[in-house]
Amino acid sequence: MSDITILAIESSCDETAAAVVKNGREVKSNIISTQIPIHTLYGGVVPEIASRKHIERINQVIREALKEAGATLRDMDAIAVTYGPGLVGALLVGVAEAKAIAYALHKPLIGVHHIEGHISANYIEDKDLKPPFLCLVVSGGHTHLVRVTDYGKYEILGRTVDDAAGEAFDKVARAIGLGYPGGPKIEEAAKRGDASTVVFPRAKVGDSAYDFSFSGIKSAVLNYINARQMKGGQIVPENIAASFQEAVVGVLCDHAAAAMDEFGADKFALAGGVAANGALRAGIEQICREKGAKFYCPSKLLCTDNAAMIGAAGYYSYLAGRRDDWSLNAVPGLKLGA
Ligand code: KG4
Ligand code: ZN
Repeated sequence: MSDITILAIESSCDETAAAVVKNGREVKSNIISTQIPIHTLYGGVVPEIASRKHIERINQVIREALKEAGATLRDMDAIAVTYGPGLVGALLVGVAEAKAIAYALHKPLIGVHHIEGHISANYIEDKDLKPPFLCLVVSGGHTHLVRVTDYGKYEILGRTVDDAAGEAFDKVARAIGLGYPGGPKIEEAAKRGDASTVVFPRAKVGDSAYDFSFSGIKSAVLNYINARQMKGGQIVPENIAASFQEAVVGVLCDHAAAAMDEFGADKFALAGGVAANGALRAGIEQICREKGAKFYCPSKLLCTDNAAMIGAAGYYSYLAGRRDDWSLNAVPGLKLGA
């Protein structure tokens, strides 16, 4: 089969990214322009600013991706772009750009689900990984425990009924004065903290035994802080960070272990920004060892938002014959498997 090279574009949140990916697994370039320093000033992502920055950066990011890959737009076999879920204004920038390129150069256009991209990041560094496998997708907007039954085919076992795991990290970080983005800051602070400081509820929730709820853990942190302050006591951010991280990682690991038992999985993959968390990686890896499953996890750069993962997912959509037309639009609330 001849080689397929895809230009992939990602602009769903606060990263403007473009990548050139060959045959779904070989990353020729992966350019990420992050807006984190700008949004940090406001304590979180400001959607209007995100859209404006994507517009300012996207052409340059694509040019850099092509240059680094030693390729031109004409060498591309298809253009893949994240069309949801995410911030509508941010998504629209990438979608409009991809449509313009595909239209002008008569190239196939492939809309990619952002979460499918995160899952597919695992294909890039682990060339032997093939479905079926179980995957825990934990990002700023999503927490899904998924059975990947085939390329592009997903059965959702459980999802969060309230906050996403990353969202909880970000909110707790803000509450204890660590700033944005919370995940890496909590992880750093947790290394110096005592995890037995705050005791958290660990109730099972939702319709499925695999559903998650993180708002209870987040509220417990806020209640703990209020109670301490009312009594005139000090809070130790490192201790709260350590306790919170242990609680979240504990829930994620428990669900992962139960799914491995039920489905007899021999492969388990982590994906999404929170998969960059060392405690979570170590926890899931340990469970995989105990259950005899092979553990997969992208490197940290491929866990957080990037376009290489969109190129990987786009490739398998391309092989499945999926093409989008000029009516492709941003879908902020896009569901997995839709
Ligand atoms: O996947 P991602 O880049 O964007 C979304 O699709 O949401 O994930 C971003 C999320 C943020 O909530 C961030 O705090 C979290 O991933 N995150 C982490 C770590 N690095 C990023 N959470 C915990 N530990 C980390 N080291
Ligand atoms: Zn993401």
